[in-house]
Amino acid sequence: MLRDLFSIGNDKISDIDLGKIPEHVAIIMDGNGRWAKARGKARTFGHQVGAETLKTIVKVASCVGVKVITAYAFSTENWKRPSSEVDFLMDLLGRYLTNEIEEFNKNGVQLRFIGSRKGLPTWILRKMDYAVAVTERNTGIILNLAINYGGRNEILHAAKTIAAEVAAGQLNVDNIDTNIFEEHLYTKGLPVPDLLIRPGGDMRISNFLLWQIAYTEIWTTDIYWPDFTQEHFIEAIKAYQCRERRFGGL
Ligand code: FPP
Repeated sequence: MLRDLFSIGNDKISDIDLGKIPEHVAIIMDGNGRWAKARGKARTFGHQVGAETLKTIVKVASCVGVKVITAYAFSTENWKRPSSEVDFLMDLLGRYLTNEIEEFNKNGVQLRFIGSRKGLPTWILRKMDYAVAVTERNTGIILNLAINYGGRNEILHAAKTIAAEVAAGQLNVDNIDTNIFEEHLYTKGLPVPDLLIRPGGDMRISNFLLWQIAYTEIWTTDIYWPDFTQEHFIEAIKAYQCRERRFGGL
């Protein structure tokens, strides 16, 4: 069935265990710039192709039963890039939100965002809010886009909100535990990631989901994100299925 939908070779999917699929997969979509440079193109071309890759991966993820994909599309540090690249990324996101809504609704994809709204242009915020509103009743995979997102920033935001609630007498300090803390993160209501995929060859976390990935399995590849295929995704799932997760226990 999966083979028919995605023309994945039999050898690639025959030993995937559909009973042991990660519920939440986080992805650092890295290597777009290097991919484009290697082809003599502008870095932005890599982002453009990378946005297409994301569509393919959401489809295959949905098909194998992944419930949530969180993709790092723009970090709080990405503002340091040349304004032409920042503007391109905002435009690309805007176009993505306009052009893909119909397809998302057709496939039951629910769109969400994590990150700070501060600093994002109003026109993007409007498109984000609209995309969330028109997909919120979809019951399929959740595509959670990290935009203007930083893990430290998210933890600070949660800590400040909790402090304000304590100061207002709405929350007792003694009741603050990991569950309460998680309810103040942007990812409130979502399971923590089971698997983090980082293409592009670097072995770092880059301020992504710092709280949430405490026990997440990490899978990296040298493949640049625009070249990342459904087969690579299946390979990552298979590697995940071979891991023994102990969560600090024995
Ligand atoms: C990191 O690669 C990637 C980004 C900073 C942006 C990722 C954005 C996309 C894939 C497209 C946007 C997504 C949507 C949903 C429209 P890099 O530029 O740092 O690559 P490099 O390490 O090769 O320089």
